[in-house]
Order: sequence, then C-alpha cells, then structure tokens
Amino acid sequence: MKILKSLLAATAVSGLMATSVLANEALVKEGEKIFNTKDLGNCLACHAVNGKDIDGPGSMGPKLSGLAHYPDEYLYEMIYNPNAKNPISQMPAFGKNGWLSDSQIKAVVAYLKTIQ
Ligand code: HEC
Repeated sequence: MKILKSLLAATAVSGLMATSVLANEALVKEGEKIFNTKDLGNCLACHAVNGKDIDGPGSMGPKLSGLAHYPDEYLYEMIYNPNAKNPISQMPAFGKNGWLSDSQIKAVVAYLKTIQ
C-alpha cells in the first residue's frame, strides 16, 4: 500500500508521463498473464521465456529472447497470423482464429518487448 501511495504521488507530480509508464506496466502485466494462462494465450506451452524453462512434448517453439529489439509490427503479426510469414508454421494464428482480441495481442506484444 505504501508503494501504491508513493506511485500515486509520483503520478500526481509528474503528470502524464508517469501515467503512461503506469499504463504500460499494467499492459505488460496483462500480457504476461495472457502468455502464461492456459485458456488465453498459453504461449508458455510452446515457448520457454525469462528463465521459465519448459520440458516435454509441448516445447516445440523456440525459446523467446531478445524480443525488446523486434519491431512491434513483427511481433503483432507473428501472434495474429504466423502463417503470413511461414506457411508451415506450427504456431496457431491467435488473432485470425479469434482466440485473442486486438487489445489482448497488443498487451502480449508489450510483454514480449520486455524479454531481454
Ligand atoms: C503450438 C505451439 C506454439 C504456441 C502455443 C505458440 N507458439 Fe510461438 N512459435 C511456435 C513455433 C514452432 C515458432 C517458430 C516459427 C514458426 O514455426 O513459425 C514460434 C515463433 C514465435 C515467435 C517468433 C520468434 C522469433 O524469434 O522470430 C514469437 C514472437 C512467438 N512465437 C510468440 C508466441 C506467443 C506470444 C504465443 C502465445 C500467444 C505463442 N507464440 C504461442 C510455436 C508456438
């Protein structure tokens, strides 16, 4: 609560900039949740990331790393419809299939951009 209070104070002082940093943090959090949640993105079923290793039949996707340097559009497209870039991609088209909404994909992209 103390942290929340000082965050709120910081927001009040520095105005818009702090607000957008907080908004981005919320987006990253939402994206991470979608990434790790079974009935949402379930990306973790195929991708190891940020030290969370996976092992077993589901580990078919590459370990995600260095995505902070990727353009947003590339990452969005890769989630919306991987087949656009790779016709024989094993990754499902989360956007095209209607599994994730535009704003959910944007949240996941925000999270992916935090992956070193
Ligand atoms: C069924 C397994 C599977 C699932 C689930 C899956 N992926 Fe993938 N993903 C792959 C494979 C396999 C590739 C390798 C490229 C290809 O086949 O198109 C890949 C590639 C990627 C890439 C490109 C990496 C690079 O270095 O170019 C990104 C980004 C990515 N996936 C993100 C996600 C996100 C985000 C989710 C969840 C919304 C997800 N994946 C869910 C299998 C999966």
